[in-house]
Amino acid sequence: MRPTHIEHIGIAVKNLEEAIPYYENVLGLKCYSIETVEDQKVKTAFFKVGQTKIELLEPTADDSPIAKYLEKNPHGGVHHIAFAVENVEQALSDAQAVGVQLIDKVPRKGAEGLNISFLHPKSTGGVLTEFCQEPNN
Ligand code: CO
Repeated sequence: MRPTHIEHIGIAVKNLEEAIPYYENVLGLKCYSIETVEDQKVKTAFFKVGQTKIELLEPTADDSPIAKYLEKNPHGGVHHIAFAVENVEQALSDAQAVGVQLIDKVPRKGAEGLNISFLHPKSTGGVLTEFCQEPNN
């Protein structure tokens, strides 16, 4: 299941409007998309860095996973790392076969129409880990 690259790094922020200027003005990246993902109760902003993206995540509800993260990390921070895989279902079953605990047993739709699933940080050295697959693969 070897991942092809890091698809994105997810970063929790309190407020997209306050967070975006650092990426645009200091790093010189361009925010090319802002999208709300109702399912995950987040509003996302995307930047490209080579083949990899930065995904800023702002909570849209108090019970959003990002709101919970911000309670523990009030300044925000790195929330998850997403690996691009060619077949997310295969990657999940490979991980499960070696005892990795899954958050999503079945892939779901994430931002940008990707098929995504999360592995539990208990099984990944504390790093919330996402697999992503382009929907047309
Ligand atoms: Co993500």
